[in-house]
Amino acid sequence: MTILDGKTISNKIKEEIALEVAQIKERGEKVPHLAAVLVGNDGASLTYVGSKVRSCKKIGFESTLIHLPEETSEEELLQKVHQLNTDDTIDGYIVQLPLPKHIDEEKVLMAVHPDKDVDGFHPTNFGKMALDMETFISATPFGIMELLRRYEVDTEGKHAVVIGRSHIVGRPISILMSQKGKAANCTVTLAHSRTKDIKALTLQADIIVSALGVPHFLKADMVKEGAVIIDVGITRVPDESRERGYYITGDVDFEKVSKKASFITPVPGGVGPMTIAMLLKNTLLARKRHRS
Ligand code: GUN
Repeated sequence: MTILDGKTISNKIKEEIALEVAQIKERGEKVPHLAAVLVGNDGASLTYVGSKVRSCKKIGFESTLIHLPEETSEEELLQKVHQLNTDDTIDGYIVQLPLPKHIDEEKVLMAVHPDKDVDGFHPTNFGKMALDMETFISATPFGIMELLRRYEVDTEGKHAVVIGRSHIVGRPISILMSQKGKAANCTVTLAHSRTKDIKALTLQADIIVSALGVPHFLKADMVKEGAVIIDVGITRVPDESRERGYYITGDVDFEKVSKKASFITPVPGGVGPMTIAMLLKNTLLARKRHRS
């Protein structure tokens, strides 16, 4: 069994990006600049955004965190988005999700200019991804594909079962894995909350991508011997005995499932760090595109 070590691979990717940034600086050009908009004080979002900004600093990107109060109106947020669209000093930006309930998420994501949409959430970019055209691929699915590619996991003609149909992970990863190219060419089944008998499907799977957010959903008796397991779940489970008051766990019963798997991602340290690395990669791509 091989652990798909997202932490190590993401550090490698960040080193590769840092090298490019150093070359950009040497040429006297402007370094990539990522902005992140965070509305409110959701604990997980604060952690993610903080981590994204720290990673930017580490590799030599410029970064700007725009932290708006929970009561920010939809109109005010849209104004900020328009401002970022027209600010030439910013190469790419993200609006951290989820947004407070009084704000229409779809309206905000639609307002992000596709050329600056390093999250790849705008319909133009999602559509290009689905058509296998060059674009910003959403960081989490992009990170999973990169992890499979760097570990040379054999995906050719394999049956991949994706659990969860979210716009951010399940849906795009199901499309990417069905496409031609490295770490793809799979036959894909997209399972979700209304799927009948998920276990019958996962037992047939050569590769399982679980993006549900239900701790320990995937048990050893649902998995075929030798399967590749990608755990996208990141759930905070309250635990008073820990200093932070919680611990992080994935969708997979790692201890038991890892005994049957050929490759498996841990949580934490698997898909999570890859997401940040790929966001940085998209920001570098945005910088290069804006230059040409
Ligand atoms: N919330 C959970 N994942 C993501 C992500 O990849 N990007 C943004 N903007 N928000 C998220």
